Amino acid sequence: MEILWYLTAPDGRYPWNPKGARKIDYAYMQQLARSVDHLGFSGALLATGPHDTWVLGASLIPYTERMRFLIAVHPGLISPVLLAKMALTFDQFSKGRLLINVVNGDSRALAAYGYHLPHDERYALCDEYLTVWRQLVQGKTVNFEGKYVHVKNGKLALPTVQEPHPPLWFGGSSAAALDVAAKHIDTYLSWGETPPQVAEKIAKLRLLAEQQGRTLRFGIRLYLIVRDTEQEAWDAAEWLLEHMDEESVTKMQGVLSGTDSVGQQRMLGLHGGRIPKTIKDLEIYPNLWAGLGLVRPGPGTAIVGDPETVAARLQEYASVGIDTFILSGIPLLEEAYRVAELVLPLLPVSPTVSQVNNTVLPFTWNNSMREGAPTQLSVNTPT
Ligand SMILES: Cc1cc2nc3c(=O)[nH]c(=O)nc-3n(C[C@H](O)[C@H](O)[C@H](O)COP(=O)(O)O)c2cc1C
Repeated sequence: MEILWYLTAPDGRYPWNPKGARKIDYAYMQQLARSVDHLGFSGALLATGPHDTWVLGASLIPYTERMRFLIAVHPGLISPVLLAKMALTFDQFSKGRLLINVVNGDSRALAAYGYHLPHDERYALCDEYLTVWRQLVQGKTVNFEGKYVHVKNGKLALPTVQEPHPPLWFGGSSAAALDVAAKHIDTYLSWGETPPQVAEKIAKLRLLAEQQGRTLRFGIRLYLIVRDTEQEAWDAAEWLLEHMDEESVTKMQGVLSGTDSVGQQRMLGLHGGRIPKTIKDLEIYPNLWAGLGLVRPGPGTAIVGDPETVAARLQEYASVGIDTFILSGIPLLEEAYRVAELVLPLLPVSPTVSQVNNTVLPFTWNNSMREGAPTQLSVNTPT
């Protein structure tokens, strides 16, 4: 099992409301990245928030040693040749710690950047784009004339650090998305749907990938609300719900309704868009609470419970085929510690394996960390 954290603004005790949002600046991001690195997460997702993902990731390389940066990119916003150059530069400077999250976004959000292709055409572009990108990062000279991408004598001077190239991850739930994923992607991501919904998607994708002669890994993006007891965990969820004011909910649901993202529509379908009468009204599966989707875009579900229950639910996702978890809590910094101390020791967390020479980066979780005993790290020095 591989577990990543989340490194994207906004953040705070209830960041959907200015009163509950904290100041996010470079110092805070450094602190968060250092915590992710130190606590034993294998990396973090840098999603398309207010900061540019490449600048954010690159600026944090010197503050980290082991964590991998899952950088969100929108194909089509910049040339595939430039993106390939950025990837190889980042991979070289971070010593093989780059992961790329290919996201095809939402029409309205992309129109604001001057990018106007409709939903399915974005995936047609993405297919051409990744075809070119994969060849470039493997050192090939590219001449490609497609409907959307036209490159003449594209060639990069840097070699790749990770073989065959920095891994491509991907989130997209529409039919067009699944076809592109099957063809190009290494790890397919879902937002926090229920285990049966995830199992259905995985079965579909495995079939599509098989037709391409490929195999995929699968990941999921979930919030955790974990406390020492079930009651305390549900009380913490209740506290968040109490801080969801009508204005913030109406504003967020207004922004999200009408989205052409199938993944987002699936998330919206889990909560009905209104503040529930009781917290448990939005428990859509045992210990899976859909309330966060009322105020947060993208992933809107949290596993709520004591450490053993949360670990058991994560294991249930693992049993349907998920091997990678991108977790987060509110706020990101404090909850990174809580999750690392309460949940990670209960899971078969894989050490961070560098793609470079398959060496194990120097840190693995040890149960003694949970008990507050003097820390004993399993140190495997990379060769
Ligand atoms: C784990 C995960 C992370 C995502 N991160 C982003 C992101 O950072 N920016 C973004 O615009 N979309 C993000 N998305 C959404 C994708 O952009 C996806 O392409 C979008 O849902 C539209 O595609 P669809 O209609 O095929 O679902 C993410 C999706 C998943 C599952």
